[in-house]
Amino acid sequence: MNLDRRHFLSGSAALGSGMFFGCSPADSKSAGPVLRAEDASFETARVAFPWSTREVYLNNAGRHPCGIHAVNAAREYLEFILGGPGDGANFGEKQFHEVKELYGQLIGAKASEIALTQSTLIGENLVALGLGLHRVGLLGGKGNVVVDELHYHGGSYIYRRLQEAGLELRIIKQKDWQVTPEEYERAIDKNTKLVSLTLVSNINGYLYDAKAISDIAHANGAYVYADIVQAAGCVPVDVRAMGIDFCSASTYKWLMGMRGLGLFYVREELQGEVLKPVMYGDKQYANFEFHYFPGSPAGDEPVTYETREGAEMYEVGNVSNIAGAAQREALKYILKLGVDNILAHAKPMCDKLIAELPKLGYPCITPPGSPTPIAAFLVESPEETNAKLKKANVVAKIKWKQMRVSPSVFNMMEDVDRLLNALS
Ligand SMILES: Cc1ncc(COP(=O)(O)O)c(C=O)c1O
Repeated sequence: MNLDRRHFLSGSAALGSGMFFGCSPADSKSAGPVLRAEDASFETARVAFPWSTREVYLNNAGRHPCGIHAVNAAREYLEFILGGPGDGANFGEKQFHEVKELYGQLIGAKASEIALTQSTLIGENLVALGLGLHRVGLLGGKGNVVVDELHYHGGSYIYRRLQEAGLELRIIKQKDWQVTPEEYERAIDKNTKLVSLTLVSNINGYLYDAKAISDIAHANGAYVYADIVQAAGCVPVDVRAMGIDFCSASTYKWLMGMRGLGLFYVREELQGEVLKPVMYGDKQYANFEFHYFPGSPAGDEPVTYETREGAEMYEVGNVSNIAGAAQREALKYILKLGVDNILAHAKPMCDKLIAELPKLGYPCITPPGSPTPIAAFLVESPEETNAKLKKANVVAKIKWKQMRVSPSVFNMMEDVDRLLNALS
C-alpha cells in the first residue's frame, strides 16, 4: 500500500467507496508491516502516525494522534455499520473484553477490575458519588477530600461542587511545582474519605510518589483515586504496587486512541460494598427473563435480572464502539513497543528542552529529574511564543502562561531542535 499525503487527505472522501486512507480492509491485513500494531517499531513510528509528517507535533499530552493500525480498525467498524457484516467487522462485548485485558496488562489489573466509561472525569465522578461524598455533609457527618493545586482542574471541580453538600475540601499548595508525601501527610486525617491526585500532572509532568501517599491515606482509612490519563501508555503504572484504589483515563492521550472512551479501574476488594454503583443500566446484568410474553415463566416482576460480578457494575449503557475498535489496536501497539521503551525514547527529548529552554528565557516548571515525557515552562508572552512556533510549523501546548511539550513515539531529537531554533 502506498500511504502518501494524497491518500491521507482523500481518506474521508473514500468512505462511500468502502476505502479509507487508500487501502481497503483486505489491504490493511496484507499491507506493509507499519499498518499492523504487532509490527510496531520506533523506526516506523513516523509512518504509522501520518500526522507527525505534516507538522512537528509535540502536544501528545493534549491529544495523541491515532496510528494507521488504530484508524484501520475504526474504519473496519465504520464499514460494518455502513454496509453490514460483509464489509467490515463488528466490535462488541467480546472485543471490549480484549480491550480490558490489554489495558489490564498495561496497569497491572484484571479485566474484571476495569469498567468502560466515556472519559476520565466520568471515572472520578463515579468515585466521588460511589463513596457517598455528596451525602457526607447532608447526614451531618464529617468528611474531607484532599487534593492539591496540580490536580486536574476538572477533577478538583467535582469536590468544589460537593462542598455545597457539606464536603470539606482540602487543597494542598504546590511548592516548587511539586507536592510531596510529607505535605499530604499534613493534610490527611482520620476524617479523610478520599485522596485524589493526578498521577502525572498535566500542568508540568510531575510524577507523584503514589505509593508513599497511598500508604498515608490507607493508614487513615482513606481511599486513593488517581487520574492516570497523563500516565497510562507513557509511564509505567502498576496500580497494586502504587496502592491506587481507583483510577481512570480517557483513551485519546497516551493511550493513542480516540475520544469517547474511558477506562475506569476499581480494585476488586472495593467493588460494590465500598464503591457503590450510582447509575444503573443493562451492562450490569448478563441474563434477564421476561415474564409477560405468552408462554414465559411466571414471575411477580415483569423482568428478572442476574447481575454481573466485577467492574461491569459501574457500566451503564453503550460506549463508543469505534473508539473501542481503535483502542484495541492502539493498546497492542503500546504493549509491543513497551511503556519503558516509549518513555526511554521520549525522555531525552524532554531533558534537552529542560536544559536549553531556560537559557532562552523560558523557566522550567518541571521538577528536576522528573521521569515522565512531559516538560513545562513558563511563558511571558504566549501569543508571541505561539506565533514563533507556528511559523516553524511546530506544535506545543501554550496556554495560560505555560508551555507544555510532550514528545511521543514518532518524535525525534530533530523535532526538539526545531522548537529550540524557533524560540532562539
Ligand atoms: C490530567 C487530565 N485529566 C483529565 C483530562 C480530561 O478529562 P476527560 O478525559 O474526562 O475529557 C485532561 C485533559 O487534558 C487531563 O490532562
